[in-house]
Amino acid sequence: MSMSGIMSFSILGTGMSVPENIVTNDDLSKLVETSDEWISQRVGVKERRISTTETAVDMACEAALAALENSGVKPEELDLILAATISSETICPSVSCMVQKRIGANCMAYDINAACSAFLYLLETAAGYFARNKVKKVLVVGTERLSKLLDWTDRGTCVIFGDGAGAAVLGEGSGYHDSVFTVVGGDEVIKIPNYIGDSPFFKGEAEPPHIRMNGQETFKYAVNAIVSDVRHILVNSGLSGEDIAHIVPHQANKRIIDSAAKRLGIDYEKFYMNIDRYGNTSSASIPIALDEMNRKGMLKRGDKIILTAFGGGLSNAACLITW
Ligand code: UT7
Repeated sequence: MSMSGIMSFSILGTGMSVPENIVTNDDLSKLVETSDEWISQRVGVKERRISTTETAVDMACEAALAALENSGVKPEELDLILAATISSETICPSVSCMVQKRIGANCMAYDINAACSAFLYLLETAAGYFARNKVKKVLVVGTERLSKLLDWTDRGTCVIFGDGAGAAVLGEGSGYHDSVFTVVGGDEVIKIPNYIGDSPFFKGEAEPPHIRMNGQETFKYAVNAIVSDVRHILVNSGLSGEDIAHIVPHQANKRIIDSAAKRLGIDYEKFYMNIDRYGNTSSASIPIALDEMNRKGMLKRGDKIILTAFGGGLSNAACLITW
């Protein structure tokens, strides 16, 4: 229970799954005019996992089962499954419904689309169900097969992203605190058009269903988002950077994290980074990072951790959790 008497949650366990296929910067240099030097310096990615056969649902299930095992919770104990994705193979059924069936759960399940900020939306949505005492155990999972949304001839985007899934099991507790959400709607900076269909009545021009992004605008938005959201959480919680054990930012560009850390004046070592190995996996990036930190033994009970994300929408969000 929180001090206000409203039930909240704690993270009981984590899991992740990435495709086996590793694609290095040198591999990409054979596809587009780029180099390991440029990608390493400008983005911070060395390699990423790119699906050959793994679907968004396959990865979500593997991450979910790992998180269930890590938390000692059985699939049939789950009261709710929330999945986040922008790159699943089907619009219907949702990823969460497919996961529900495959892992042997029998609870309510639905998906959320909030692009790269989505893991924060999963936690906030779950918090509402805990507050109403509607659930005792919840599975949240972000899963992305972004490789199917990339224009593999566009060096400005295809070198940045990767595929993967990350999951967490939540149980009743007092580990979720303040959160902040901002939406600056618009499709000028980041856009992924959907399949337009075969309507004989359609008038207009179909756009290719690829990720289109104004990199520099996104970069500026992202740095400002991390800085203002982390400050907001600290001020609202009466904490300073010293009180925070880890900051887990969405992994979009190492230089974004570097710039934000510098402006915040918080110890750089507190910012977790794994973008070198996975690239930007959108909704999966924060839960993948949490799972790595968890399994490396980096997270101690009572640690205060800030999660911070930004991306398509545009939207940005942050929250404070206690491990
Ligand atoms: O999760 C969604 C959120 N997304 C993000 O947070 C992405 C944020 N933005 C970024 O990470 C960076 O803006 C990029 C990595 C996308 C681009 O880096 P940049 O430093 O902003 O590069 P730029 O777009 O200003 O381009 C600089 C130069 C250009 O050449 P000229 O015009 O100066 O001759 C580009 O054509 O770099 C060129 N370039 C490349 N060169 C080699 C762009 N992509 C590549 C590439 N390899 N892959």
